[in-house]
Amino acid sequence: MNTTTIKFDAFETLKNDDCQQRIIEAKETLGEQVVILGHHYQNETVYRHADLTGDSLKLSKYVSSLDAKYIVFLGVHFMAEVSNILSRPEQITVLPDLSAGCSMADMANLTKVERTFRELSKVIDFDKSITPITYINSAADLKAFCGDHGGVVCTSTNAPTILDWAFKQKEKVLFFPDQNLGRWTGHKMNIPLEEMPIWDPDLPLGGLDMETIKKAKVLLWKGHCAVHQMFRTEHIDLFRKAHPDGNVISHPESPFEVCLNSDFVGSTEFILNTIKDSKENTKWLVGTELNLVNRLANEMKPEGKLVQFMSHVVCECSTMARIDPQHLAWTLENILNNNPVNIIKVPKSESLSAKLALDRMLEIS
Ligand code: 13P
Ligand code: SF4
Repeated sequence: MNTTTIKFDAFETLKNDDCQQRIIEAKETLGEQVVILGHHYQNETVYRHADLTGDSLKLSKYVSSLDAKYIVFLGVHFMAEVSNILSRPEQITVLPDLSAGCSMADMANLTKVERTFRELSKVIDFDKSITPITYINSAADLKAFCGDHGGVVCTSTNAPTILDWAFKQKEKVLFFPDQNLGRWTGHKMNIPLEEMPIWDPDLPLGGLDMETIKKAKVLLWKGHCAVHQMFRTEHIDLFRKAHPDGNVISHPESPFEVCLNSDFVGSTEFILNTIKDSKENTKWLVGTELNLVNRLANEMKPEGKLVQFMSHVVCECSTMARIDPQHLAWTLENILNNNPVNIIKVPKSESLSAKLALDRMLEIS
């Protein structure tokens, strides 16, 4: 068996069609040794090779039940980290392009979260009063922080159940890094907006006064998704004018007003299922990433359904798009060569605490 690493240079100039063939052949040879997981935002050119697809929660649940030696993740870095944390030690998770990150996840880091812990501790007893909840879109060390402080991970699917659990433990929640998911979930639980102030991690006391912190139920980290931030209520107004019988469905990472004006709000899996299960000839305006919406629009055409993207500008998740056929073919051929590249491995010390927070989530939801 040849064990030298194949360099990416050899794949960089390969045409998409040639890559497709090589991906199919590599997968066939590897057989049950490899499972490809794909998030719904992945481009069709790689998504078609996924053995299992889903939103963040569904994909995390799949991981613990897989037997394959190699898990190739068509998604972004935090998803591959979760795969490494939840899989068995002998399993190997591969992310075809290491630059596939998540700009929202990057809006929080351990230095800022630890500074937040110190700042809040000036006003209240953090561990006694606050449950830290990190959205799954975050680095493993932040999940570990939550694990170590009685906290938990949540996804867009289970955020209400997790928040509900958190309030049974302690009086307050620190929610990071997505203020929009936190605000929308809190609003659905009838928490007034005044009790969900924004915490700016770069300012002393998060930019808040002591009284506001004491009264707060949910402290919302100042972070957001650049893709979903593009959606506006004006887009909804225009659609409703053109299609008074149409439906609007959005991801909870969208701005609060967009969620408020939508008929349905939920995860990528929820969006797909709701539209697929709807009656023939229905019309949908969708506030989530472009690849998912385009794929759904094509799939729904035979049923006469109109599926329209919410924004007038292209809102592709550029980091998800880093996973292309060239990188997928390259990583699979290196696995075939017995020399896997782009292995995602979370350090053991972090992994154990992060697993605690992830296991809590899986148990609660
Ligand atoms: P889902 O868990 O709903 O798939 O969301 C992941 C994500 O990154 C949305 O931007
Ligand atoms: Fe991150 Fe936004 Fe891309 Fe989702 S769509 S992976 S939150 S940058």
